[in-house]
Amino acid sequence: MQNNNVHLIDHPLVQHKLSLMRNKEASTNSFRRLLNELAMLMTYEVTRDVAMQDVEVETPLEKMKTKVIDGKKLVFVSILRAGTGILDGMLSVVPGARVGHIGLYRDPKTLMAVEYYFKMPQNMEERDVIVVDPMLATGNSAIAAVERLKELSPKSIKFVCLLTCPEGVQAMQQAHPDVPIFTAAIDRQLNEHGYILPGLGDAGDRMFGTK
Ligand code: URA
Repeated sequence: MQNNNVHLIDHPLVQHKLSLMRNKEASTNSFRRLLNELAMLMTYEVTRDVAMQDVEVETPLEKMKTKVIDGKKLVFVSILRAGTGILDGMLSVVPGARVGHIGLYRDPKTLMAVEYYFKMPQNMEERDVIVVDPMLATGNSAIAAVERLKELSPKSIKFVCLLTCPEGVQAMQQAHPDVPIFTAAIDRQLNEHGYILPGLGDAGDRMFGTK
């Protein structure tokens, strides 16, 4: 799939861990740990162009001017509940980031996103937002989440998932062509239940052991 706004993170470490997560025999514990590690690695790419600020530090030898990330300007927005797994990994490398939550569930019949929770930090118009959800499948949740966030006029919005498929990418890009997608894989297709094939199953159930 040729699109400049889709960033496929194909680093061997990322691909290796994703392959381990796909294995249906992976335990809840190892699935969660791998997701955490993957999220840390992906953050490296996703934050490549993040704004920095000048600071002065004193080394043991002398003073110098250098740069740091202003984590408070970054907001990680987790789409509940599966976003939590990615969020934890990202926060471990950018601990100063603010966090927002959007509660959405998929109506099992229509597959449409239904919102039940929305809590964001103040002054969103000053912040860069990174929305996280492991699976970009039909795109309905991601599209609804980004629509809600745009009401708050943040400076920028990126979307991060582990896995997507052509249908999800197309839907998201049609609705929000301005939002770059970062993913570790674009799988073959969606099935009739809105699951990605070959995929990794239900990310929420696998990370929380609820099935
Ligand atoms: N959500 C999941 O957890 N898995 C899929 O394959 C699609 C949506």
